[in-house]
Amino acid sequence: MLVAPSILSADFGNLSRDVQEICDGGCDLVHVDVMDGHFVPNLTIGPVVVSSVAKAATKPLDIHLMVENNTFFVELFAPLKPEYISFHIEEEKHPHRLIQKIKSYGIKAAVVLNPHTPPESIEFLLQDLDMVLLMSVNPGFGGQSFIDTVIPKANRLKTLRDKINPNCLIEVDGGVSDKNIHALKEAGVDVVVAGSYVFKQQDRAAAIRSLQV
Ligand code: DX5
Ligand code: ZN
Repeated sequence: MLVAPSILSADFGNLSRDVQEICDGGCDLVHVDVMDGHFVPNLTIGPVVVSSVAKAATKPLDIHLMVENNTFFVELFAPLKPEYISFHIEEEKHPHRLIQKIKSYGIKAAVVLNPHTPPESIEFLLQDLDMVLLMSVNPGFGGQSFIDTVIPKANRLKTLRDKINPNCLIEVDGGVSDKNIHALKEAGVDVVVAGSYVFKQQDRAAAIRSLQV
C-alpha cells in the first residue's frame, strides 16, 4: 500500500518542517488539498504556498483539486510539476478533454469520485487514467469519519480496472487509519491518503509505516 499523507492536517506555521518530516518518514506521495470555497465549503492554498511545499518535499506531489473551474486550476498548478493532478468528476463537463490537458504537461491524470458517485460512471474514462481517487468522506475537511460503503465500491472499481486498465491505481481519501487499512487492502486499494491519522501522532514515521501494509 502506498501512503500519501494529506498536509491539510499539518501545522501551516511550520509547513516545510512537517513536509520534510513525512518525506523523511517514508511516505510515498505528498497529498495536497486545493479547495476554492465554492465546490466545497472550505478554502485552502494556492500555487504560492504549494511551490514552497514542492521545494520542501523529497517525494512527488499528489494534487487533489476540489474546485469549480478545473481547467483554470490545472493551468495554475501544472508548472509545479506534481506527479498527479486529480479533479472531481461531478464538477467537469469535459473530463476526457481535461485528462488530455493534464497529460500534455507530462503529469499523471486522476479523477475523484464523491461517496455517492458510482464507479461505472467513469468506465469509459478508465483507459485514459493513471489513478482513480474514491472519497471515503464528503470532501472539504480533515478528521471526518470513514464512510465504509467505499469498500464494496473499491471492489467494483477493481473489477473494472483489472479488465480495462490494470495500470490505473485506486486511491482512497478520508478517515483512513490503522482500523480500516486492512479492509482497504483486501478491496484492492493501491494508495491511501491520511491526514489526521498521520499528523495527530507524535511518531509520524511509525504512523506512515502502519499504513504500508
Ligand atoms: C478532504 C481531503 C482529505 C483530508 C483527509 O476533503 O480531501 O485529503 O485531508 O483527512 P483525514 O485523513 O483526516 O480524513
Ligand atoms: Zn484529498
